[in-house]
Amino acid sequence: MKTLTVIPTYNEIDALPTTIGRLRAAVPESEVLIVDDNSPDGTGDLADQLSAEDDYIHVLHRTQKNGLGGAYIAGFNWGLQRDYDAFVELDADGSHQPEQLPDLLAAIDSADLVIGSRWVPGGSVVNWPLHREIISRAGSLYSRTMLGLKVRDITAGFRVFRRSTLEDIDLDSIESVGYGFQVDMTFRVARQGKTIQEVPITFVERTLGESKMSGGIVLEAVANVTKWGLSARAQTLAKKAKGLSC
Ligand code: GDD
Ligand code: MN
Repeated sequence: MKTLTVIPTYNEIDALPTTIGRLRAAVPESEVLIVDDNSPDGTGDLADQLSAEDDYIHVLHRTQKNGLGGAYIAGFNWGLQRDYDAFVELDADGSHQPEQLPDLLAAIDSADLVIGSRWVPGGSVVNWPLHREIISRAGSLYSRTMLGLKVRDITAGFRVFRRSTLEDIDLDSIESVGYGFQVDMTFRVARQGKTIQEVPITFVERTLGESKMSGGIVLEAVANVTKWGLSARAQTLAKKAKGLSC
C-alpha cells in the first residue's frame, strides 16, 4: 500500500524534526505531508528545509490558522489528487509514536478505518494531565452514547484511513474546525456500515511546545455531537412513524 502520513502543524518548530526523524526511521516507505498554517515560529520554513533534503517529505502551506479539521481536509485532498492507497493522521508533537504506526498499518488490510486507541485494553496515556484525561474519556463516552457508536477512543488523532474510506466521504461538507473533526469522521465512517478497528497505543504527552486545545474546541465538539445525535434520532423516529402509517 502506498501510504501518505499527514502531519498538521502550528508552532511545532521544536518537536517536528524529532517526530519526522522517528517516522522516517520507523516507516521509511511512507511519504509525509506537513500541513502548516503559517506558524509564527517558522515551522513552515523548517518543513521546507526538511522537504528539500528528502524526496519523501512534502509541504502544504496554508495562509492562516484554520483548525485541525481544515488542515487534515486540505492534506487529504492533496493526497487524493495523487495515487496514495492509505492516509495516516499523526500529531507533530511526539504524542503519537511513529514506532507504533506499523501496528496500525497492519490492521488497515482488514479495516476501513484504524484508530490508535488509548481507551482499549493495552492502550494508555503517559504524563497526561488529569483534566485532559477526564475531557477525553467524557468526550468519548458522550459521543458514543449520543451517536450510538461502539468506538472507545472517538477523538483519537492517530489513525489510518483507506483511500476508499476518504473517497466515500464528502470532505467539503465537514463542518468541524477543531478536534471534533475526529468524531465527525468516525461517525460518518460508522454510518456507512464500514469496519472500524481500534489498535491499542501509548499516547505520550508532549515535552516540547504547547497544546492548541481550548475551551472553544471542546464547546464546538459538544455542540456538534449533540446536534448530530438529535438529528439521527429524529430521522429514526420519522422512519418509524412512516412505517406505522403505511
Ligand atoms: N495546521 C494546523 N492548524 N495544525 C494544528 C492546528 C491548526 O489550527 N491545531 C492543532 N494543530 C496540530 C498541532 O500542531 C499538532 O501537530 C496536532 O495538530 C495536535 O494538536 P495538539 O494541540 O498537540 O493536540 P492535543 O495533544 O491537545 O490533543 C490530542 O488529543 C486530542 C483529543 O484526543 C490530539 O491527539 C488530537 O488529535 C486529539 O483529537
Ligand atoms: Mn499534542
